[in-house]
Amino acid sequence: MREIGVVTSNARISSAPILIYKDAEHLAKEESLVIIKDAKFIKTYLGVLRWLSKYDPLLTHTQRAAIIERPELAEESIDLPFEASFIKILGEVVNGRLKPPTSPPTPRSKVCIIESSKDLQLDLGYGLEIGVHKYSGLTIPLNLEALRYHIAVVGTTGTGKSRLVKALIDEVIDKTNWKIVVFDHTGMDYVRYYSSEKIVDAEEIAIDIDTISQGLANVMSSIRELIENYLPITLLYYMLCIDAKKDFKRCLNQNDEQILNFLNSSTIDIDRVEELILNTSKNSLWNADNIAYIARLVSIALGARGATPEKLSLYIKIYGRRYIDRLNRARYRVADIIDMVYRNRIVVIDLSIVETEVRRVIVKGVLSKIWEIVEKTRKPQNILVVIDEAHNYACDRGCYPSNTMIEKTLREGRKWGIGTILASQRVVDFSPDVRNNINTVFFSRLQTPYDFQQLQNFIDLAGIGTETLSLLETREFFFAGLGNPLKYPMLIQVKIVGEPP
Ligand SMILES: Nc1ncnc2c1ncn2[C@@H]1O[C@H](COP(=O)(O)OP(=O)(O)O)[C@@H](O)[C@H]1O
Ligand SMILES: [Mg+2]
Repeated sequence: MREIGVVTSNARISSAPILIYKDAEHLAKEESLVIIKDAKFIKTYLGVLRWLSKYDPLLTHTQRAAIIERPELAEESIDLPFEASFIKILGEVVNGRLKPPTSPPTPRSKVCIIESSKDLQLDLGYGLEIGVHKYSGLTIPLNLEALRYHIAVVGTTGTGKSRLVKALIDEVIDKTNWKIVVFDHTGMDYVRYYSSEKIVDAEEIAIDIDTISQGLANVMSSIRELIENYLPITLLYYMLCIDAKKDFKRCLNQNDEQILNFLNSSTIDIDRVEELILNTSKNSLWNADNIAYIARLVSIALGARGATPEKLSLYIKIYGRRYIDRLNRARYRVADIIDMVYRNRIVVIDLSIVETEVRRVIVKGVLSKIWEIVEKTRKPQNILVVIDEAHNYACDRGCYPSNTMIEKTLREGRKWGIGTILASQRVVDFSPDVRNNINTVFFSRLQTPYDFQQLQNFIDLAGIGTETLSLLETREFFFAGLGNPLKYPMLIQVKIVGEPP
């Protein structure tokens, strides 16, 4: 700990001006932690240096000075300038704990800079250790209670968001009994760290019939509008035929009336359809030629006219084949994934292989299942949902259906122990319900000034400006909000999270 200056006149409870000693100028850094020793009232304050400025009593840019004719004068009085700053006061240190300040520090109190975590005996409580304060090395733990109040990690690409989230995940596993579902948008950020029993490929999850139909319609985009309506019923009829096993052949030879009767007489609900989809996949019976054939029959039975049935059948064979073959990889219901989460404590879902629409359906499906459990048990679940590149899932428009369940989780999750971590370079895109329910934020360099304004709208930045943020390096984040025991945005350096072995 080194003495660097004294408090000057006009000190207040929240901030105090300080004059910095000539020989300590090189030590004072923006965001450094300092201690104010108030000798008069025997008090110690903790604060952080903010708004460092250098002044010169004889040289201001709006007054004429001799230097403009005699530049050599600049060197002669090089010792004249002085440095001043403000200390943002975080609290009074009382018996090793931080308390809200009750009176301003007395002017002339000495100010010391904290150079190592050993300089300060301060109990910030138990919590998740993500990193240390950049200059003092002080560990600022994230209060465990904050998990259920939702966390955002914000910064432009490459600032270290995913690694920070990985550090959080490790700490949650290590220090709590919470369970975790991770949605890995790129398939590169989390999957690689875990062994195979903790990873699920999005293709392996059976999705609902509407999403399958939409996906299939998408790959046949040129006739999409013509055929869209026939696909869900085609697929349903196909699966029912498969389920009829030895009657499969007869299924293929039914007339219009028989087809409609068969559909009408089958008992179908959501669970039954899920079971049909999963069985078809598990037995590898998704077959483009058979589906093409059935699409023709079903579309005719449903009144398709002209060349539509032929087109439909042909397009499925030509363009739908790869998509349909891929459905054979599904082997889990969403409920199975949740079982895995409860069994293994963590499951990482690799979303990278499937289309965006399917990714959103999977996020929605998993969240819906968690809420079903809550509704059934009426007990907090202590489950953390991690969504990386979250602007793709939590936006206001165009993120349906995942946004609906994410919004619900942010609004109501705290009561039932369902917390979220959302990492994103674009908070602008988060829907208002999402933004307004985030209580802890890690933020770093941002993409645009507009992102900064948005951030200001939902978190108290306490005077941190865009210019400060734009100077941050990889791994450097401000830690703000409920989870921060210092109740004030602090600059931390995230611990090293290495490459996977
Ligand atoms: N905590 C960290 N420990 C080690 N390396 C890091 C850390 N944070 C960032 N990096 C480096 O920066 C790169 C980008 O980090 P990443 O978390 O993928 O950024 P983002 O998710 O913000 O795009 C990583 O590949 C790694 O090399
Ligand atoms: Mg990332």
